[in-house]
Amino acid sequence: PKPNIAPTPPMGWNSWNKFACNVSEQLLRQQADAMAASGMKDAGYQYIVIDDCWQKSRDADGNIQADPERFPSGIKALADYVHSKGLKFGLYSDAGSLTCGGRPGSAGHEFQDARQYAKWGVDYLKYDWCNTGTRNAEAAYTIMAKALRESGRDIVLSICEWGTDHPERWGPKVGHLWRTTGDIFDAWEGQKDWSLGMTNILDLQVERADAASPNAWNDPDMLEVGNGGMTTTEYESHFSLWAMLAAPLVAGNDLSKMDADTVRILTNKDVIAVDQDPLGKQGRRVLRQGELEVWVRPLQGGEFAAVLFNRSKAPADMKLTWDRLGLPADRKADVKDLWSKKVTKDVSGSYTGKVASHGVIMVRVTPQR
Ligand code: DGJ
Repeated sequence: PKPNIAPTPPMGWNSWNKFACNVSEQLLRQQADAMAASGMKDAGYQYIVIDDCWQKSRDADGNIQADPERFPSGIKALADYVHSKGLKFGLYSDAGSLTCGGRPGSAGHEFQDARQYAKWGVDYLKYDWCNTGTRNAEAAYTIMAKALRESGRDIVLSICEWGTDHPERWGPKVGHLWRTTGDIFDAWEGQKDWSLGMTNILDLQVERADAASPNAWNDPDMLEVGNGGMTTTEYESHFSLWAMLAAPLVAGNDLSKMDADTVRILTNKDVIAVDQDPLGKQGRRVLRQGELEVWVRPLQGGEFAAVLFNRSKAPADMKLTWDRLGLPADRKADVKDLWSKKVTKDVSGSYTGKVASHGVIMVRVTPQR
């Protein structure tokens, strides 16, 4: 069976959203330094993952080679550097002949590549789905999963076939997380080629909540917080909702250049604690009234996280009623607002607040015994 190395959703950083193909060892070292120095590591972020375009070619024996111009010291040295910071190291490959960026893929080289990754000290593999022809997704990912297991190293397998072949059905036994959609792009809403805005991605998650459990997570794609295409309020919503989804929290911004709001959002300990809740139950949308939504996530020990989400253009008075939590109206609870940090004691029946346009109120509800 797959190793139990993602009991809660993986947290880390990945190069793609901000840097696309512009990866290099300097960039990766800089991001690892920044993860350790910025408070991200202390907040729980762990994996530093190079996405597409690190590869160049295969040698005469078929061994995958890093691009020597971008990674002159080699991948092993970089992995050692990342490990020396107390972090974990991830790489990217593809189940086809070529990656989406046109570099060599792993089709037909799965066992050789997995052995190489293990030698280099890789802890996490994101495995993409370009140029796969008529391959069956479950079969292709199962081969790489087996190769990783036989490599002798514990390596997280991040399945990235964009939700094309019901990965929620087979992903739990094959990998640790699976993408549910095409790519996110850094906008509140919209569609750009096959990429979707944040709220469009969110809407595609509601049917899949049941598939998630510890060591097996739905992946609504990486974070755009800090990349500049949304407002601070919208990024708070993005981060809150991803935590409700028990999503892998993979930052996709430049960690070496974060403003105070970006750090505040990405390191919000209370929101991260919801994401990382050990019960591992994904949250659901329990109410949708026009552009106003209520999301609820059950937490370990009988607590709840809830989000009042206002998609509209005006502020809205919103209410979380106890029946949405399955609690009797007279049950007293303490409620903590996870962004303002205000705690309200002895609340019963409902909790109300004014929610900013495109914003959330996110709370943790602790019923009294
Ligand atoms: C498609 C994936 O969905 C993206 O996250 C990224 O890995 C690119 N491919 C890289 O080419």
